[in-house]
Amino acid sequence: MAKQKWKAGNMVYPLPVVMISCGTEEKPNIVTVAWTGTICTNPPMTYISLRPSRYSYDLIAESGYFVINLTTRDLTYATDFCGVRSGRDVDKFKEMKLTPNYDNEGKVPMVEESPVNIVCKVREIKPLGSHDLFIADVLEVYVDDAFMDEKGKFHLNDTDLVAYSHGTYLTLGDTLGTFGYSVMKSKKAKEVSKLIPKQEDQLQLRTKSKSQGMASKENKPKSYKDKFHKDKTNKPVRKKAPSRKK
Ligand SMILES: Cc1cc2nc3c(=O)[nH]c(=O)nc-3n(C[C@H](O)[C@H](O)[C@H](O)COP(=O)(O)O)c2cc1C
Repeated sequence: MAKQKWKAGNMVYPLPVVMISCGTEEKPNIVTVAWTGTICTNPPMTYISLRPSRYSYDLIAESGYFVINLTTRDLTYATDFCGVRSGRDVDKFKEMKLTPNYDNEGKVPMVEESPVNIVCKVREIKPLGSHDLFIADVLEVYVDDAFMDEKGKFHLNDTDLVAYSHGTYLTLGDTLGTFGYSVMKSKKAKEVSKLIPKQEDQLQLRTKSKSQGMASKENKPKSYKDKFHKDKTNKPVRKKAPSRKK
């Protein structure tokens, strides 16, 4: 594998992309954030990183609360919009026809249309450089009833969640396994694992395709340059595949 060495930068992807709702009933706002994640299981803690220039920064710093609203396919347009327009200029709830929900005793607005609302209380704000880190405790979690089954199990992965990778919004793909499946011994786990190639099988598959001529000149995996050329505006355009001989 030939690798290029790049200077330091952020390349941890995919990430969740969430709508952070904040402010008050008089001034509700939403800001899109990808720099977010879990930092502690018990007590449940999370973080968001915000540039101090964001309108939402002061709203959150003043009230001490924000809500992480998970995003879905249907919310992708609104998610992007809330990440490119400021609450200084536009009421994003109104503009995106989203409903502020104040079931959390009116502390902070939640996005009703999101299947999961995570209400957070700021514990600490740590300046880091371009962004400040908001370390927060999770106070409450609200989940959409429609995804609960009769046994009380919440089917989060059926809500059509969206991820963010290298500038692009994506839905989640195939199921590849479940937590711990690589070492499970139960009958059920064996059934599941039949569907999922084991590590040695995956390696064998790769070696097999290489030895079957993948590395030969004409079968060499195509590089980006082989597949794309740039048009007049420097936009990459996929090259037409050569017509097949009859
Ligand atoms: C996909 C995406 C991810 C973003 N992630 C962050 C982030 O993690 N932190 C941040 O400060 N801004 C982030 N932004 C930019 C803000 O969402 C954007 O500047 C927004 O307009 C600020 O809104 P506000 O001024 O109403 O607070 C992101 C934008 C997009 C589109």
